[in-house]
Amino acid sequence: MSTLASRGVHILGPDAGEQACGEVGLGRMLQPADIAARVGALFQNTTLTGKRVMITAGPTWEALDPVRGITNHSSGMMGYALAQAAIEVGAAVTLVTGPTHIDQPPRAKTVDVISALDMHAAVMNSIDQQDIFIAVAAVADYRPIDTASEKIKKNAEQMTITMIKNPDILADVANLQKPPFCVGFAAETNDLLDYARGKLERKKLDLIAANHVGGSETGFGTPDNAITLTSQNNVIELPKQNKNALARTLIAEIAKAYTEK
Ligand code: PMT
Repeated sequence: MSTLASRGVHILGPDAGEQACGEVGLGRMLQPADIAARVGALFQNTTLTGKRVMITAGPTWEALDPVRGITNHSSGMMGYALAQAAIEVGAAVTLVTGPTHIDQPPRAKTVDVISALDMHAAVMNSIDQQDIFIAVAAVADYRPIDTASEKIKKNAEQMTITMIKNPDILADVANLQKPPFCVGFAAETNDLLDYARGKLERKKLDLIAANHVGGSETGFGTPDNAITLTSQNNVIELPKQNKNALARTLIAEIAKAYTEK
C-alpha cells in the first residue's frame, strides 16, 4: 500500500469499527456515500480556495423619474458565469449586480443594486476584504443630474436632460492604497486592443478582458462571447464560445496571473 501511495495513488480507507468477524478496529469498507464524497473532493479544482472574489455584473439603471430611466443591454450573463466559475474552484464570491432577469448563482453572496452610485457604494463597502476584483458590469458613465419625484409629463415639444459623470468604480478600486488584483472588461465596437490597452494602463489594472460588442453574436445579451485577455506583457485570444465555458477559462487565467503576481 505504501508503494502505491508513493506513486501518487489515493487510498480510501479502511474505516474503523466492528468487523464481520466480531473484532473491532481498522478493516471496514468506507460507507459508499463517504467514498463518493472523497472521490469527488479529489477531482475538485481548488485553485481559488480561501480567496475572496468580488464581481460586478449587469447594467445599472439611472432614474429620470419614478418609472423611467437610462440603462443598457447587459443581461448579467457574463458576470454571473464568472461568479459561478469562481465558486467552482473554491472562491468565496460576492456578486454586486444591477437589475437583471436571470437566476443568481446559488452559492454567491449577492448584493442587488440599481444605479451606478449604489454599485459604487456596495463595492466600496467591502472591497478591503477582497483578494480579486472583476468588473464586468456595464456601468452608466453618466446619470441625470436631477431625478423627478413625479412622472414627467409630455407638455413640451422638446426636453433636455443634463447628465453628470458617475464615479468610475473600477478606477477607484485600482487606486486604493492596497488594491485587490484588478480585472476590468472593455466593451468596444472598434480598435478593440488599442482601447483595451489604454484602459489597462489608465486604470492601473492587472488584466483586461476586451470584448467586441455591437454585433449580434457576442457581447451584450448574447449566450456567447469572445475575449482578448490582455496584461502588460501577454495577450490571450479566447474565441467565440458559450459564456459559461469562457468564464471557466477566464477564471483559470485570472487565478494563474493572480498567483504569479
Ligand atoms: O451582461 P452580458 O449581457 O453577459 O454582457 C457582458 C458585457 C458585454 C456587459 C461584458 O462582457 C462587458 O464587456 N462589460 C464591460 C462593459 C463596459 O461598460 O465596459 P466599459 O469599457 O464602458 O468599462 C470599462 C471597465 O470599467 C469595465 O470593467 C466596467 O465595469 C468598469 N466601469 C466603467 C464605468 C464606471 N463608471 N465604473 C466601472 O467600474
